[in-house]
Amino acid sequence: MRKKIVAGNWKMNLGYEEGISLFSEILNMVNDEARGDQQVIVCSPFIHLHHIAKQSANSAVVSVGAQNISQHDAGAYTGEVSAKQVKSTGADYVILGHSERRAYFAEDEKLLEIKVDQALKNRLKPIFCIGETKEEREAGDFWDVLSKQLKETVFHLSEEEFKQVVLAYEPVWAIGTGLTATPEQAQEVHAFIRNEIANNFDQETADATTILYGGSCNPKNAPDLFAQADIDGGLIGGASLKSRDFVDIIKVLN
Ligand code: G3P
Repeated sequence: MRKKIVAGNWKMNLGYEEGISLFSEILNMVNDEARGDQQVIVCSPFIHLHHIAKQSANSAVVSVGAQNISQHDAGAYTGEVSAKQVKSTGADYVILGHSERRAYFAEDEKLLEIKVDQALKNRLKPIFCIGETKEEREAGDFWDVLSKQLKETVFHLSEEEFKQVVLAYEPVWAIGTGLTATPEQAQEVHAFIRNEIANNFDQETADATTILYGGSCNPKNAPDLFAQADIDGGLIGGASLKSRDFVDIIKVLN
């Protein structure tokens, strides 16, 4: 049985105190209201990681992650943060391949493959994002785009390594726009992704892979999205910054 996960991506939001207090609210609300068999991951800016990892160290449900890592091991890379440094904070996950990093920081498949390897080498589990732009969807060739985004980044891994990976389908045209993929659109892509995994590895690996949906997911649309056979939870942006909304989405998985 694959894991059901709701992950929050705080992006570049919240000062130190704000983040610490939001995380405490989420942790308490999850403990009180949502201790099902789902898993919760909060991916905060680097500044919060150590504190929130310590706060959730004894939680069986809540883990924390980063939103990026350097492709380098260590050394003279001013401003960078390595996978080893992220792991040393107590974090277990890292978002990689997010469309905002692809768009604004020129992260292509070649670089992302290196980052995936860095994460796994340092015992961080990648939450690996793929997704098409509006233009690619309208052009109709987005299936090739999605396939390339998988093949050139995570399909070189061994089956054992790949089992550490959580995938997230984030249609770029739905991120932060209030536009959400319909449950049918999302299910169609998730089923395609699962089939690509089966073709590259085997059906057992495909069936065991958690595939999250991201893109304007909220407490209202989460039930229909999460009811889809191949949608195993969500990667939540804006709604993860509000504890009530984020926990209400988590409770949908219960
Ligand atoms: O990584 C999740 C994010 O890209 C989705 O953002 O605000 O549309 O939920 P949002």
